[in-house]
Formats: sequence, structure tokens, C-alpha cells
Amino acid sequence: MSSIDKAAKQLEEYAKNNSSSVTTTASGARVIVKDATETVGPRGPILLRDVHFLEEIAHFDRERIPERVVHAKGAGAFGYFEVTHDISKYCAAKIFDTIGKRTPLAVRFSTVGGESGSADTVRDPRGFAVKFYTEDGVWDLVGNNTPIFFIRDPILFPSFIHTQKRNPQTHLKDANMMWDFHTLRPETMHQWLFLFSDRGIPDGYRHMNGYGSHTFKLVNKDGEYVYCKFHYKTDQGIKNLDSKTAADLSGSDPDYSIRDLHNAIANGNYPSWTFYIQVMTPSQATTYKHNPFDLTKVWSHSEFPLIPVGKIVLDRNPENYFAEVEQIAMCPSNMVPGIQPSPDRMLQGRLFSYNDTQRHRLGTNFNQLPVNCPFKVSNYQRDGAMAFSNQGSGPNYHPNSFSGPKTDLTVKSLYPKEFLTGDVDRHDDEVVKEDYEQATAFWRNVLDEPAKQRLISNLVDSLKLVQDVLQERAVKSYEKVDLDFSRRVQNQLNTAKRCKANL
Ligand code: HEM
Repeated sequence: MSSIDKAAKQLEEYAKNNSSSVTTTASGARVIVKDATETVGPRGPILLRDVHFLEEIAHFDRERIPERVVHAKGAGAFGYFEVTHDISKYCAAKIFDTIGKRTPLAVRFSTVGGESGSADTVRDPRGFAVKFYTEDGVWDLVGNNTPIFFIRDPILFPSFIHTQKRNPQTHLKDANMMWDFHTLRPETMHQWLFLFSDRGIPDGYRHMNGYGSHTFKLVNKDGEYVYCKFHYKTDQGIKNLDSKTAADLSGSDPDYSIRDLHNAIANGNYPSWTFYIQVMTPSQATTYKHNPFDLTKVWSHSEFPLIPVGKIVLDRNPENYFAEVEQIAMCPSNMVPGIQPSPDRMLQGRLFSYNDTQRHRLGTNFNQLPVNCPFKVSNYQRDGAMAFSNQGSGPNYHPNSFSGPKTDLTVKSLYPKEFLTGDVDRHDDEVVKEDYEQATAFWRNVLDEPAKQRLISNLVDSLKLVQDVLQERAVKSYEKVDLDFSRRVQNQLNTAKRCKANL
């Protein structure tokens, strides 16, 4: 119960372990009276010279920073990554170089579409972003709880996200927008079915898997590379919430997942995930049956088995949510020698987007915040708002003859040359057979009968709210997944409409 759990006792615990200090202004002067403004007589107006009050209000007026444009609601924690298996034949990144080695990390979990005050238990993918503070710099693996995504070209991302957010006139969530998009872009099918299945509402953040989702490149010490996917599987076991329980919790405990994570860690019940890779050689990539850089597809586990690597363990709650979670800047372009992007278009798009939004959301020097980069950096970037660590008196231009930072050729072999060729065009893949193939396999081979029924009910609960033309398009497109599936959606939709008509 929230009235007696660790989260509810946080202030009590703080008071036990800390004694009060003297209140000061932001510039360090002691405050004598904290409970009243400075006025002309007990009933008179406030003086403009009450700079203490002005400072307090002016700071308060600026407390909010823009929330993340997506993944605004989230929870964070800290811990470590421990290597359990040797993968040095694939990857020379220092984080993996010794069995038993521990690297500190931060994790931020999130929902995607809702605002920062929205409920945790909604049907939505969950973000599972990990920041590894490696010896070689920060590596961010900004993943989700799904191995796939709705789209494969980043140019569609803003539109896709708009369909998950609010209608521009009504300011309401509008199921028509998302069903319209889904039924016009068949590559969404696989992730759509995943989302409306049981896994669409995980029970908190501890009972779900994480996936780097994209294809990455791992480079070994000889400069040879493989393509790779990252999987981090929950050691707590998968647990999901049914739609009714989730809806009830949205009202009774909208911060359910944040509370669950905080209390588990505060009680010493540290959640962990086992970390795996799948690897594919460049020659396998050229002949694989589908585009291995298409984020809407999984790689077959029988052809590309999971290779164990290590463990993610979370054993510390943040001391201060704003400083360590709201201001954390997860960024897919933060990679370290030995880990590189693949040509996955979505990943390429993300390489630009995150730093760009973080400069807007947090300011130019967001990397100087300790949670984002606790390391001493040496480069030629200077100045800008809040330049806390402006690199002293050293030269600020390159090349120079005055002991400025030098490049490091020792890791050059970890960046092998690439030969690329192709027609420059806006290649919008035709509807490909595989857009349905993996969705078909999901329906036929992954779900048992009760899970199939719940998938249909979840779909129809949303589909019944939208225009007829979208319902017809959806049912038609489901024929390409499986005829029986489509027929069952249609039947249940008819029943739902009859019930509505009889009301
Ligand atoms: C082209 C596609 C995408 C674009 C342009 C994009 C853009 C963004 C942006 C702008 C943010 C806010 C970042 C911030 O304010 O710090 C964000 C957050 C996030 N995105 Fe994406 N995203 C894309 C696809 C994906 C995919 C495919 C995944 C997962 C596989 C993903 C996972 C996340 C996560 C987990 C966060 C929250 C990070 C945190 O906890 O701070 N995104 N995304």
C-alpha cells in the first residue's frame, strides 16, 4: 500500500539521516525570515526591494523545462552492467573486455505517447533506455520493450507520433488518427499486433524485456565487423496487466510503474536483466531473406541464436528526480569504439534527432550535466549558456601547437572503411510480403487461443470507436495476416456495434 511503502516513507527516512542546514538565497546569503514577504506595515503592499521574494518567485516561474516530445513520463534508476561471457571475437568495446567487469549505468523507463502527468498503465510501447558510463565514454542503448517498431523510415516518425498524441482541434486522443495511419502503412502490422496483445501493457517496468531493436555493428580488434541486435531479458519474468486492471490502476494509481520500481530498489529487491546479442555476418546480411536493417522485422532466433553477454542490475534509486532522470539525455549517437550504427534508416534518423531535441530541451551544454557525462572531456567546444566546465585556459582551436587535445589513432582499426554504392532516390519500399509474414507467424505460432481472443478484444475495443471506412480497411488488411483472424475481428466488431445500437 502506498501509505506504508518505502516511497511513502522517503521524507521520514531523509529526516532520520540528515539534520537541517541554514536556508540561504541562491547567492548564499542567510535567510532570516522565510514565512513572510517584506511589506509596508502588516497590511500594506510588498516592497520591490524584497529581492529574496523576487528571486524565489522568478526561479519558480522557470521551474519547468519542455517535456520530452515523446517518452515524457518515466522512471529512472542506477546500477551496473556485469560481463558474464566473452564476446571479444565480435566486439572490442572496452565494456565487454573482461569477464566479471562492471560498468556503471543509468536506466530510464518510459511510456511513449502520454504527457509527463499521464498514467503509467496505458497500452503503449515502453521505453527502456540504458546509459553505460564506459571507460571509453558514454554508450547509450536507447531501446524499447519491443524488438520491432511501427515504421522503417524516420521521415514518417513525426506523423506517426502525431497520431498517438492529441487531435489538433479537439485536443483529445483520437483513435481515428492512429487507425488511419496503421491501415495506410502495412509495415506497422507486426508491432501493432504486439501492442494490442498481452505485452501491450507490462506490469510495471521490472517485468518486461528490453531490446536495442535496431541493427548495430560490432567491430573486433582486427577491424572485422558483424551486424548485431541487443536483447535484455527480464530476470523477474514477464508479467502483463489485463486491460481492465490497467484501466482501474490508471485512476487509482497513475504512477504505478514508478512506484513499483522505486519500492523494489528501496527494499533491496534489485531488478536485473540478462543481456544477449544476435549476430549476423556481412555476407549473411546480403543474402538474408529480408532486409536486416528493416526495424519492423525480427531476426529469426533459430538462424541467429541469442548469445549471452552479461547482466544489467539496478540497485540505486535517483537522489533527485529532476537532476538525474528528467535531465538525463539518452542519445543513440552516443557510441564507443567497437560499436557503430548500421544502415538501418530509423537508427540513422535517430542519430540526429536526440541531440537536437536535447539542445532545445536542456540547453547547448546538456552534456556537462553530471548524469549525462561524468567524465572529463577534452575538445574544442566552448561557451554557450551554462558552460560549467569550459575547459580552462587551453587552446580553443584545432590544429594548434600549444598542447591542445590530440586525436587518438590507437582505435582507428575499430572504424573499418566502408564501400557504399547505390541509386540516390527516396526509396519507399513497396508493400512487401514480409510486412504480413511476421505478423502471421505472431498470430499463428506465438499466441495461444486465450491470448488470440484477448488480442481481438483489445483491437475491437479501440476499432469500434473509429469511422466505418477505417474499420473496413483494417479488417481487409487483416485478411493478409490470416483469414480466420480477420473474420474473428469482423465478427466481434459486428457484435460490439450491435450492442452499441441496442443501448
Ligand atoms: C526515427 C525514429 C525516432 C525518432 C526521430 C525519435 C525521437 C525521439 C525524441 C526526439 C525523443 C526525446 C528525447 C529527449 O528529449 O531526450 C525520444 C525519446 C525516446 N525514444 Fe525515440 N525516436 C525514434 C524512434 C525510436 C525507437 C525506434 C525507439 C526504440 C527502439 C525509441 C526509443 C526512445 C526512448 C526509450 C526514448 C526515451 C529516452 C529517455 O528515457 O530519455 N525511439 N525519441
